[in-house]
Amino acid sequence: MTHVLTNLDPSLRSAWHPVLRTSDLGDEPVAVRLLGEHWVVVRLDGEVAAFADRCPHRLAPLSAGHVESQGDRDILRCGYHGWCFESTGGCSSIPSLPDGATLPPRARAFVPAGVATHLGLVWIAPEPPRVPLPDVPIAADELGRFLSGDLPVLQACASAGLLMDNFLDVAHFPFVHAATIGDEESTDVGPFEMERDGLALTVRSAQRFPNREDPGVETGERPLLQTRHVTYRYTAPFAAWLRIDYEEAGGTNVITFFVQPVDADHATIYASVQRDDLDGDLDRLAEAVAFEHAVTAEDLVVQEGYLHRSIPLELTTEVHVKADRMTVELRRILADFVAQATLTAPPAAAPAPTGSTDGRVAHHERLGEAHAG
Ligand code: FES
Ligand SMILES: [Fe+2]
Repeated sequence: MTHVLTNLDPSLRSAWHPVLRTSDLGDEPVAVRLLGEHWVVVRLDGEVAAFADRCPHRLAPLSAGHVESQGDRDILRCGYHGWCFESTGGCSSIPSLPDGATLPPRARAFVPAGVATHLGLVWIAPEPPRVPLPDVPIAADELGRFLSGDLPVLQACASAGLLMDNFLDVAHFPFVHAATIGDEESTDVGPFEMERDGLALTVRSAQRFPNREDPGVETGERPLLQTRHVTYRYTAPFAAWLRIDYEEAGGTNVITFFVQPVDADHATIYASVQRDDLDGDLDRLAEAVAFEHAVTAEDLVVQEGYLHRSIPLELTTEVHVKADRMTVELRRILADFVAQATLTAPPAAAPAPTGSTDGRVAHHERLGEAHAG
């Protein structure tokens, strides 16, 4: 039994991880880091592809190369000796060889088991993923109503597991968020329903709260005390969203929160806000994004202050109370996630600097863009 989950746990290799916003991927390769390993993300023939950031020839970073069209398709050309690679990792040309020469079979760029675009992000699964990509918080037929805004990409000196723990934690609001959302919250965490499916979790609660922002309260149209339906959805290892539906006043707020375990001490947060109650007003959307950014900054003060960079999986390490049921379940899911990897994982084919370049092309998956609003 692994007692803690670090950002570099080998079980994390067989899972999807966000590595980049699709909007940050242009025509040139982008270097990213995941689980302490270097990858390069490129767009070839309009599709997102990824390779270990290491040319099989002299191990130069492929991210220093360029995308070019060759015949009827795009290739990534290494910047050092010009070898060309297709999205499968196959080498299509070696300029130093005469025309028609046979290319060495090991001249292949290492590709991850899976590459996908989903919810506005590029996702990589170094090994075949054991958990599907996260669900979408907004159904396709609702999408047209929503405005969507991204928070700045946040690099944190923190544990990815603890960041996820923090997103699902409901008892810290009055203390960490006194300056933002905390003042409207009571310290008492009310009842909620929890449903686990595989390595994912849904938590639902209905909360009575004073809706001070509802103009209908002042006109007497609606009472001050109203109901909001709160749904948390978590997918192992580090994906979650929160959806709040306001019953009396109407309107839905969604916050998505996806974490990339970068290396032992760093994690990157991709968060966004979606709302259908802003009457298409982009200034109000920008305000909502800035507010959520301020809330997340308050969280990061605590998360970056931790002296360790891991989440405990052994339940006796910490003391839990009833209000912590959701984050206890998070620990159970992560413990199962690690245990299942140990049982099922093939030997890792990590793209280490001196590792093999067998160019395994398994499960090279591409999914359609599904970014909300
Ligand atoms: S190192 Fe890439 S072509 Fe030589
Ligand atoms: Fe928080």
